[in-house]
Amino acid sequence: MQFDFTTAPDRRGHDALAIDSIGMDPTAPAAPRAGFDAIPMWVADMAFKTCPAVTEAIGRRLAQPHFGYFEPREEYLSAILSWQCDRNGVTGLEPRHVGYENGVLGGLVSALAALASPGDSVLVHSPTYIGFTKSISNAGYRIVSSPLVLDEEGMWRMDFDDMERRLVESRAHVAVFCSPHNPCGRVWERAEIERAMEVYAAHDVMVISDEIWSDIIRPGLVHTPTQSVSDDARRRTVALYAPSKTFSLAGLVGSYHIIYDDYLRDRVDACASKSHYNMMNVLSMHALMGAYSEEGRAWADELRAVIAENVDLACDVIDERFDGVDVVRPQGTYMIFPDCSAWCARHGKTLDELLAAGWDVGVGWQDGRPFHGAFNIRMNLALPAARLEEALDRLDRYVFNPR
Ligand SMILES: Cc1ncc(COP(=O)(O)O)c(C=O)c1O
Repeated sequence: MQFDFTTAPDRRGHDALAIDSIGMDPTAPAAPRAGFDAIPMWVADMAFKTCPAVTEAIGRRLAQPHFGYFEPREEYLSAILSWQCDRNGVTGLEPRHVGYENGVLGGLVSALAALASPGDSVLVHSPTYIGFTKSISNAGYRIVSSPLVLDEEGMWRMDFDDMERRLVESRAHVAVFCSPHNPCGRVWERAEIERAMEVYAAHDVMVISDEIWSDIIRPGLVHTPTQSVSDDARRRTVALYAPSKTFSLAGLVGSYHIIYDDYLRDRVDACASKSHYNMMNVLSMHALMGAYSEEGRAWADELRAVIAENVDLACDVIDERFDGVDVVRPQGTYMIFPDCSAWCARHGKTLDELLAAGWDVGVGWQDGRPFHGAFNIRMNLALPAARLEEALDRLDRYVFNPR
């Protein structure tokens, strides 16, 4: 390994929501009891340091002590174009197709404003990322959920008939598509995306495709951009990307959209720009240029391998030692979403009791119910393997198999 994924900076007192809000905020894990330190495994950011190329790029810019109004650099756009070409096989992407967004969720809300009116229905898949649920309903839209289903091999699949039925019933003309899927971790196959896009096209549904997790997939798998599956998909889709998940940059803020259709792009830009708040931060621009460099590519490749090893470690331990806990091995993201219904039933425990038992010994895992998993827990595996082993060991000894 060229880069360090075995140590993690001590983030305590350094503005990390994942650690500083433990025990302080009702939505955060409760504080551990004496003798246990907290291992944060909830907020979707990583315990690792960012890529050195990112800190170097920010450092070079910080050496110029002026932070006035600025124009995005040509290198910012060309970094995105070459990243999308090299990593996702995107062809024909031009600078004009790319636009800055403060955050992926902000981009989602701007796109919704361009495509629907408050009160209108929006189709999502369920389980659903909590940020979708909150931002779509807070902006006044009605969420229509089409459940993903587990097939005989234990793979999450879209139910195209169900999607079709719900689109017709609700008269929804916008769908939010999450690829790879959070929290289920599916990296959709091209044929599945093609079929979904045919369903959307057949019912005149515009698509907001959140591809924020596209860089974090198992080595050997490929991310298929939604816009790449057909000419119609290219025109019908607002795609949202960011370096934030991949490089631990969420605190710097900065994502981007890709919209090929001129009319659609103008409408989304119009909605996004009116507030004058959707403006780039000069340091986040330099951070992206560092992230999308040659070194950033090498770092992201190593990260993918590290995450895959952590996923295997956690899923193997769960399969072998946590009887009654069912986990689907994710193909992408660094999240797992184990279903604890059988364990809870067998031990006469509620999910709240189970969550609290983990928090008590410092495992800062997350309630899966707001993601629409009735007995699921969501766990972030982007941490050094030694810390993950420690968390799994505590879960074994004190929570699932107390001795
Ligand atoms: C699927 C998905 N979309 C969007 C976000 C948040 O993106 P942003 O912070 O850019 O709004 C997350 C964060 O976990 C996510 O998982």
